[in-house]
Amino acid sequence: MSEHLQIERETGLLTLRMNRPDKKNALTRAMYSGMAEVLKQADQDSSVRAVLITGGATCFTSGNDVADFIQAPPSGLNSEVFQFMQALFEFSKPVVAAVSGPAVGIGTTLLLHCDLVYVSRDATLKMPFVNLGLCPEYGSSLILPRLLGHARAAELLLLGQSFSGEQAAAWGIANQALENGAATLARAREMALRFQQLPPSAVTDSKRLMRAPGREELRQVIEDEGALFGQRLRSPEAIEALTAFMQRRAPDFSRLA
Ligand code: COA
Repeated sequence: MSEHLQIERETGLLTLRMNRPDKKNALTRAMYSGMAEVLKQADQDSSVRAVLITGGATCFTSGNDVADFIQAPPSGLNSEVFQFMQALFEFSKPVVAAVSGPAVGIGTTLLLHCDLVYVSRDATLKMPFVNLGLCPEYGSSLILPRLLGHARAAELLLLGQSFSGEQAAAWGIANQALENGAATLARAREMALRFQQLPPSAVTDSKRLMRAPGREELRQVIEDEGALFGQRLRSPEAIEALTAFMQRRAPDFSRLA
């Protein structure tokens, strides 16, 4: 298990915490693997009624580790990130997220596959895929336009515009925006613990029904996005954007066609 993950268990709830504060909880391959494993085990464990995903009270995650993107770009269905997102996509029990501070890239994308999402009002959510020479991932190109309408989704996905926790709640990406990180975690935990009181099969049957419409179409979109994302990661545009981030400079796309 990655040293950057913390697992806590209490009365029916498993809390999975991304814990790499010096890198704003940037997700490494080891973290994805660990999170996939935890989810797969929790799905089989009848004492777990719900999972809470958090990065703590000040930062959710800055997304995929950019150095990893450059040095070992994920490709295909065996990649650690795909294994994690697949485990989340297939997870049969409720997943609750508590989001404070930055939630960048996959940090926002993964929320679209959670069941309940609580955010701090001033959390900053962002999917800067185009800005990094990449493309949307894990179904966001299908889910977001349907949820928000094309125009608003285009600001988020084509411009990579950031938005606040307050906006996420107003737009239906999150259930509720709370005043700070501690209140957000407390609210998410309180709601996640409610599943302990509910009949477990009725909950999982109902989740399956809610997720069923359009699921095959979504699977296909996830596959198509994944193939393109893998190609784009190796493109001159992405290499320039990712290198620029590591070198703390603005990217220069002027010489690219
Ligand atoms: N991958 C690797 N390292 C990252 C990272 C990432 N995704 N995000 C942040 N870090 C590192 C920074 O390089 C810095 O490391 P250093 O102290 O060794 O120089 C440290 O984490 C702190 O980041 P910093 O940018 O100084 O913090 P901030 O509070 O000013 O900004 C963010 C926080 C999350 C807004 C900003 O770091 C950011 O935009 N990160 C990149 C997000 C991104 O593009 N992710 C990929 C999406 S596909």
